[in-house]
Amino acid sequence: MNIYTRLKKDHEKQRELCETLAATQSGSDNRAKLWEELKLELETHALAEEQVFYSAMMKKPDGTEEARHSVAEHKEMTDLIAELDAMDQSADIWIKKFKKLKHDVLHHVDEEEADIFPVARKLIDKDVANDMTAEFDDRKAAETKAA
Ligand SMILES: [Fe+2]
Ligand SMILES: [Fe+2]
Repeated sequence: MNIYTRLKKDHEKQRELCETLAATQSGSDNRAKLWEELKLELETHALAEEQVFYSAMMKKPDGTEEARHSVAEHKEMTDLIAELDAMDQSADIWIKKFKKLKHDVLHHVDEEEADIFPVARKLIDKDVANDMTAEFDDRKAAETKAA
């Protein structure tokens, strides 16, 4: 599996978790459980993606701008996650704010798949892109352990 397929697999999981969470009832155990799952997935995916995929893109002059843009979006999502985490999950404002995060996540993964990956495919050798998958899995596992 190359790195693009691997990252897309996580993106699918993120899309699904966002949709399911947006439909949960206020104060339900399910909302709390899904939030913990999504939070961990988003954070560990973004960190491993930066350490393995974006660090490789950053080294290519024609990939630097794209990499910077994505890393800035990761930071915005991390900030929003921290805000949500500090709020009462049963409040109406929580789900409103969550829907903003959901919008940002969907925009981000769509953009990575539609705009960033085609650029990366031109800049990163196929063999390197294949080797990145195991490295991504290792980094994500390490970040999950550390979380
Ligand atoms: Fe990302
Ligand atoms: Fe991603």
